[in-house]
Amino acid sequence: MTVNEMQERIRKLKAGKGICVLAHSYQGREITEVADYSGDSYQLSVMAAKTNAKTVIMCGVRFMAETVKILSPDKTVYLANPTAGCPMAEQMDKELIEGVKNQFPDYAVVCYINTTAELKTVCDVCVTSSCAVKVCSRIPNKNILFIPDCNLGKFVADQLPEKNFKLLQGGCPVHAAITLRDVEAAKKAHPNALLLVHPECVPAVAAAADYVGSTSGIMEYARKSDAREFIIGTENSIAEHLQYDYPNKRFYTLSKNLICENMKATTLPDLLACLEGVGGEEITLDPDTLKKARRCIDEMIRLSE
Ligand code: 13P
Ligand code: SF4
Repeated sequence: MTVNEMQERIRKLKAGKGICVLAHSYQGREITEVADYSGDSYQLSVMAAKTNAKTVIMCGVRFMAETVKILSPDKTVYLANPTAGCPMAEQMDKELIEGVKNQFPDYAVVCYINTTAELKTVCDVCVTSSCAVKVCSRIPNKNILFIPDCNLGKFVADQLPEKNFKLLQGGCPVHAAITLRDVEAAKKAHPNALLLVHPECVPAVAAAADYVGSTSGIMEYARKSDAREFIIGTENSIAEHLQYDYPNKRFYTLSKNLICENMKATTLPDLLACLEGVGGEEITLDPDTLKKARRCIDEMIRLSE
């Protein structure tokens, strides 16, 4: 079967069965082309809450499928490839954070959406990279424990000097591996290009950038900018999507190592198998986890509106 034939089969199956396919922007082009919606973590969680479809398939990583289930517990939710997890989401567990909370009882606990549903049950509010500054600025508490990404946490803290942030040592192994040497090499190769990076990069890399923002923020900046060349400092699918979308501009990757193997785990055949009922994993969460984790996500949606 060719890629086109498989895409056609996927389109027919999802239309026939009334299934909504969501794809994070880090997914490959062949997947975003057949998705009903693709976007960043925040946009996907909003779409998950809005869709009328009774079944949703997430092409992304596990915490994203869990977010869909938390927001729509009555829907049947599948993760297209069950092996796709986010290593950052596994870095801190509920017990660890309960221990830290006991030490710092007057801190509001803000978790990045890249966390497990279980960990969200003990947090006050969650954020995505696109709404983190707004949400943190609107939290009444001055003291904020921001977990698990210390790079995103520092990026937010720098913009909110009126707040007192406590950060722990966590982060994205893919983005955090990018160094100033990568920046220097990319700028040397493309001296006229603007550098756009994700806030999961280390502060030194973010400081060297012309723009720091979420995946959708980066895509929007590139769309609106009059510049013709861009170095993209986030998962390399974004540079590829941008090149398809804006063929008159040039997009370069900041490093060939900016590849998230978990985001890349899902293939078009995985999506087809899931639609055919012979692949994917149905996400199930117990009622108590659903209820408590939902408070944390609802609070994000309320504070970011
Ligand atoms: P966004 O919140 O920008 O979609 O990023 C998700 C993610 O996993 C980044 O590595
Ligand atoms: Fe997780 Fe990093 Fe992959 Fe995003 S890019 S899913 S934070 S490992």
